Amino acid sequence: MRGPKIPAMPDTSYYKHHVFFCLNERTNGESCCAHQGAQAAFDLCKSRVKSLGLNGPGGVRVNKAGCLDRCAAGPVLVVYPQATWYSFVDEQDIQEIIDSHLVKGQVVERLLVPPNVGR
Ligand code: FES
Repeated sequence: MRGPKIPAMPDTSYYKHHVFFCLNERTNGESCCAHQGAQAAFDLCKSRVKSLGLNGPGGVRVNKAGCLDRCAAGPVLVVYPQATWYSFVDEQDIQEIIDSHLVKGQVVERLLVPPNVGR
């Protein structure tokens, strides 16, 4: 017997932009986002989003995540519901993602993770 159908995707999501930063740390010597500045980038993004008043329902939520399995592009973050994957290097990259994607809704093309990059 079949269970209830999963409802269709709503036109609107609870957050306009839900951002997940991989903060995974490996202790076996393999590369990981935690060893490439992910925590500082997360902290910067979280505080900047709050100071701009973007946080909250209908706005932006910034969350920690474990390994997102796209380590080869790390450090990475992903913005849902658009499923836009970014790789970043420094504070300027995070600022640009905030100012362009989260504030203006414009993708930062130069920071996109290529579709075929995985672990
Ligand atoms: S360690 Fe960050 S995506 Fe895997």
